[in-house]
Amino acid sequence: MLTGKHIIVGITGGIAAYKTATLVRLLVKAGAEVQVIMTPNAREFITPVTLSTLSGKPVISEFFTANTGQWNSHVDLGLWADAMVVAPATASTIAKMANGVADNMLVTTYLSAKAPVFVAPAMDLDMMRHPTTVRNIALLRSYGNHIIEPAEGELASHLVGKGRMEEPENICKVLDEFFSRRADLAGKRVLITAGPTRERIDPVRYISNFSSGKMGFALAEECASSGAQVTLVAGPVALATRHPAITRIDVESAQQMHDATMSQFPQADITILCAAVADYRVDCVAERKIKREHTDEPTLKLVKNPDIARATGQAKRNGQLTVGFALETDNEQANALEKLQRKNLDMIVLNSLRDKQAGFQVDTNRVTIITADGQRTEYPLKPKRDVAADIVNAIMQLMKQKS
Ligand code: PMT
Repeated sequence: MLTGKHIIVGITGGIAAYKTATLVRLLVKAGAEVQVIMTPNAREFITPVTLSTLSGKPVISEFFTANTGQWNSHVDLGLWADAMVVAPATASTIAKMANGVADNMLVTTYLSAKAPVFVAPAMDLDMMRHPTTVRNIALLRSYGNHIIEPAEGELASHLVGKGRMEEPENICKVLDEFFSRRADLAGKRVLITAGPTRERIDPVRYISNFSSGKMGFALAEECASSGAQVTLVAGPVALATRHPAITRIDVESAQQMHDATMSQFPQADITILCAAVADYRVDCVAERKIKREHTDEPTLKLVKNPDIARATGQAKRNGQLTVGFALETDNEQANALEKLQRKNLDMIVLNSLRDKQAGFQVDTNRVTIITADGQRTEYPLKPKRDVAADIVNAIMQLMKQKS
């Protein structure tokens, strides 16, 4: 799967930099075109000559090439790449990537890259578990970057613990699997709802919920990375989309989300309803701010919003697949099953607010996937991007069964 792929290998200043020669060799052997970018400190650990010989391309480490004065365009590199791997990634580079400190060619290219980014941390165990590093790695994850976890073992300091860069063979395997998976949804159109909706009360107030959009956006990135054309109907969230295969439609209310989703639904092969849609809206939205002095105890009359999942379930034709979510606080399995049937879904993803670090806002989730034929698979707590990968895998299995 790596044949013809353009891969940027970013090398930072850690002892594990010597292993990157093998990584470059393996990628080139697998048919990839590799461009090495080194931080100035990385050059102390491994020579650019070794890496340019193995990759067959001059190594880049400065904004301008000495002698020629040629400008190395991070923007062009960012567009050229099908993937970027930072290995080894030191605590310092991880911090710069997490916070946008673009003071070298590697981080500047990272900020321009539209392609998926893989980060293989390598450092001493105390640096690895320092709250700053833990937070910065979590930030990279929240941007949709893939973290290739370091292994445990003896470190360069002779201490034993977590911090050894993953072996080049395994990094290569991660990339190969990623590109294999990437092709799985090629040619498919996926429609996703994400985030909360807002139901206005008056010009300054609204009813909403705690959804951040993280789960739905992770699904959009995962589907796009798997080769699909994605339309993401997003409620009001503070998240950005990066993948060029994602078309985003921003909406505010449940009615707007319903209208946008239903207009896209006929073209969709797969529809994933991840949004936390407000079930009710205020019957009469006040045109002016409701004043405390005028109404002591105002009463809001609520009316039902359209059920988007149900509407897609009813409009579904042969070959279209609809996947819902169930967010529960009790009686989880029974409620999820009831929703699956009532909304005519092919699959439902159950998450419970009783599970710590699952559901709203957090970067992780714990789900159970239930299909219409009663199959049930429980997954452990994982980063939302990995949960998204599990959901995409389950969808692909279902598609295979149905074809
Ligand atoms: O956004 P995050 O902070 O990352 O949080 C993720 C999440 C908790 C919002 C997500 O994982 C999730 O569970 N989404 C569905 C939340 C929800 O509203 O569940 P529900 O059980 O009320 O609804 C069942 C299904 O019907 C859902 O697929 C929902 O999108 C859909 N629905 C509900 C009501 C409605 N009017 N229209 C709908 O389409």
